[in-house]
Formats: sequence, C-alpha cells, structure tokens
Amino acid sequence: MYCVRKITEDLYWVGGSDRRLALFENIHPIPRGVSYNSYLLIDEKTVLFDTVDWSICRQFLENIQHVLGNKSLDYMVINHMEPDHAACIEEIILRYPDVKIICTQKASLFMHQFGFHIDGNVIEVSEGDTMSFGKHNVTFVAAPMVHWPEAMVTYDATDGVLFSADAFGSFGSLDGQLFNDEMNFDRDWIDDARRYYTNIVGKYGPHVQNLLKKASSIDIKIICPLHGPVWRNDLGYLLDKYDKWSRYAPEENGVMIVYGTMYGNTEAAASDLATRLVEKGMTNVVMYDVSKTHVSYLISETFKYSHVVLACVTYNLKIYPPMLNYIMDMKALNLQKRTFTLIENGSWAPQSGKLMRELLGEMKEMTILDNEMSLNSSMKEDDADSMDAIADSIIESMK
Ligand code: FEO
Repeated sequence: MYCVRKITEDLYWVGGSDRRLALFENIHPIPRGVSYNSYLLIDEKTVLFDTVDWSICRQFLENIQHVLGNKSLDYMVINHMEPDHAACIEEIILRYPDVKIICTQKASLFMHQFGFHIDGNVIEVSEGDTMSFGKHNVTFVAAPMVHWPEAMVTYDATDGVLFSADAFGSFGSLDGQLFNDEMNFDRDWIDDARRYYTNIVGKYGPHVQNLLKKASSIDIKIICPLHGPVWRNDLGYLLDKYDKWSRYAPEENGVMIVYGTMYGNTEAAASDLATRLVEKGMTNVVMYDVSKTHVSYLISETFKYSHVVLACVTYNLKIYPPMLNYIMDMKALNLQKRTFTLIENGSWAPQSGKLMRELLGEMKEMTILDNEMSLNSSMKEDDADSMDAIADSIIESMK
C-alpha cells in the first residue's frame, strides 16, 4: 500500500521510515528509527529527487507508482550517493529505463564504483547549472563534504524549495507527521537532529558553513532533507542550530561530566563535583557514564555544552578504554572550542589526567583549566577543598 504526502501543488514526499534498523551506518543506535526521504515532482517532466535505502524499497516503488499514475519517470536527481539514499537507483532504472540521472561528475563515478549499470542514462551537472522541467526551474549547488565529496543540493526557484541532501536531516522515523509544524521539534526531535548532525556531518563544519553562506543568498521557503521532517516554517530555528554546530559553538553554558568508573569511586567524585556546581548556582549539569552511554550520544552532548569534565580511572597505565574511544571520536569529528576539567584516578600509578591532557592538546582551541585533581582510589574528605576549587574555576571560566 502506498503512503505519500503532498508538499506543494505538484511535489510529493514518496519516502518511508525504517523502524527495524538498530544501528545507522552500523554504528549509531537509532531507537526512534530513521526516515529516508525522496521527493517526486510532477511537472511537464516528472522528476524524482534521490532514492531511498534498500530496506524500504518496496514501499518507495509503490509510492512512486501511485503518484506517477500513467506517467513515466523522466528524470532522477541524485544529490547524494551514500547507499542509504542511492540504493534503489538501479531498481528505478529497471522500471523506468528511459529515465535520465542528473548528478555531479563524482556521483557518476561513485555509481560506477558501486557497480551500478547507468551508462547512457547520466547527465552530469556542476555548480550553478540550471534546468527547467516545465513550470519548475532548478539550480544545482555543489555541497562537497556535506556529507560526501560528490554531494550537491538542488534549489527549485519556482516554489523556493531546497532539496538539501543530508543537510538539515535528523534521526527518527516519521510517524504520520512530515512537516516540522506537525510536531514539537524542540521537545521531541532536537536531540536526535543534533546527534545525527554531529556524528554524521560534524567533522565537516567549514563545508557546512560554506553551504549556509550559499543558502543565505537564496529565498528558501521549504527545506526537503533526506532524513527527518520537511521544514516549511521557522527555518531560522534550524539554520541557527546548524550555524552553531558547524562553527563548533556551544548551544548552552553548562557542564557535561563524563566519568569512567570501574567500581563507583570515580563516579562518586563526579557526583561530588556535580553537587558542588549546582549548590554554587550552575544548575545546568549533566552526568554520563562513559561505559554505559553510546559514544554517539556523548558526542552530541559535547557539541551542546560549553564545559566538559572528564573524570577517568587509569587502566593498564592508560586512559580507561571507553573514555579513550570517546576522546578519539571527538578528535575524529574535529570537535573544538570547549573548556575541559580533568579528574584522574588510580590506585598505584594514576596518569589518565596527563594522557587526556596530551590528547586534548592535539585538538583545536580546547581550553584545559589548571585546576585538576588526582585521586588515589577514591575521593576523601581531604580532597574536598580541591574539588571545591575545581567547581569554582569552572564557574569562573563561564563569566
Ligand atoms: Fe543519509 Fe550521507 O547519507
């Protein structure tokens, strides 16, 4: 059975949601599922914008067939070649053999690399190229590294619709609602949108800034991303989030305490610090057990908060492995401009603090506060003054 939504008079959402997949890209947990968005324009020519993941191909094909009716498919614009969107290209060609694929040169190369049989079907476009499908005139805009090098976005100047590829997307299935004004995005979606952006595109902040710059010069009324809701109002809210995330600017003044603990002693020290911070008036504090929290959530929260405390046990004379994994992921994603406080613990040779400091020193614009603490097995009354000084230095650095 088809399941489509109308976006404008002649544009339809023909995607679907996967609520069964456990791990996006086989890495990131998606307990709320994920949508793969595809859009079909019915003009003098018919145009499909991107395809979907293999998992929802059957639904996708039924959707297209329903919207097309007796028409054939003339064009397929491929903005992004990652298989969560490009998997069904050959299925479309099989059903509509005369379809022309519009994409960048690099996307065409990737199609060959993935083994697609597309010869003779491709029209390669570059930055600024335009095309008319009848009433609708579109411009193709390069968007390299948002999130792969071949990526582009397509702007339909007729209705002010931006087909934004991975940009402005989110984890989360679409449960009937499609438009941002049909949901409470700030309450129910923002955490998944942040986790999607920071883990998938977070490394490429400067490239996202380039795309935002291009976007600011065009009149966008509707944003159609490849995942998550379609935006048709309050675009400033989303653009502001993307601006902050891609500049690595924190959203909130607050303290994220990430602790690596084996038997609860490092956790107790982290709790002590959290309590002191709150008692001193900094109530925006969150604590995460690095062993129990998937690193994608930690990365997302690290993009959100201004200050991070790493409290870590020493393990085999090194950084506790889950904490090391978190820090290395931060580094891989090019995270920067955060203020850190370090607490190390160890029973005979505590040195996780020194090692964490070295790693953070290799990242851009990370500030590490001088007040740090070295614990021997557990925090004691004698350590209270030092912990108080740490809390004071964090609050002071927020001014
Ligand atoms: Fe949703 Fe980069 O693919």
